[in-house]
Amino acid sequence: MPVQIRTMRAADRPAIAEILKKTEAFVPADVEVALELIDCYLADSTGSGYHFLVADVNGQPAGYICYGPTPLTQGTWDIYWIATDPAQKGRGIGARLLKSAEENIRSAAGRQVLIETSSNPLYLEARRFYLGRGYINISSIPDFYSPGDNKITFRKLI
Ligand SMILES: CC(C)(COP(=O)(O)OP(=O)(O)OC[C@H]1O[C@@H](n2cnc3c(N)ncnc32)[C@H](O)[C@@H]1OP(=O)(O)O)[C@@H](O)C(=O)NCCC(=O)NCCS
Repeated sequence: MPVQIRTMRAADRPAIAEILKKTEAFVPADVEVALELIDCYLADSTGSGYHFLVADVNGQPAGYICYGPTPLTQGTWDIYWIATDPAQKGRGIGARLLKSAEENIRSAAGRQVLIETSSNPLYLEARRFYLGRGYINISSIPDFYSPGDNKITFRKLI
């Protein structure tokens, strides 16, 4: 399946919003915040501090990733969001997006990538995905999101 990775443009917003809404793990507040970041980036792509890549399959957005340098650090970058259209999961789209983001981060003198996620069972797929891409679980903050829902941080040296 040919997947093309490119930077996000304004015309992608409706398709990405649909992907976010269809993603079971994301509650409406998550979707709202994810769209706010997209709007920040579309309003000022260089000044926003966010980078967005989109994966096209047959010319249609099938997933995206949002990442950026962690403020006040030297060479630490965060992956803020990643999502693949639920109908297209398990076909290598997420892996391609993450790999492209890591290559861009390395080119920008990034040293390490951090990803924060939740211990909620809805994120099990995402946690397995990160472990499979060479990320290591380096910390867990108990009851961070809500009682029983921990914040887990994954790290990869690049
Ligand atoms: C996490 C997520 C982005 C992964 O995206 P994806 O496109 O399904 O990822 P991939 O297809 O690249 O990889 C998924 C699995 O399919 C496998 N795979 C890769 N290419 C494949 C192919 N061509 N055919 C079948 N399987 C394939 C991968 O090996 C991987 O398995 P692994 O994790 O056991 O190593 C996706 O599941 C998602 O959108 N989840 C919901 C949103 C979410 O939780 N985001 C993270 C918030 S922290």
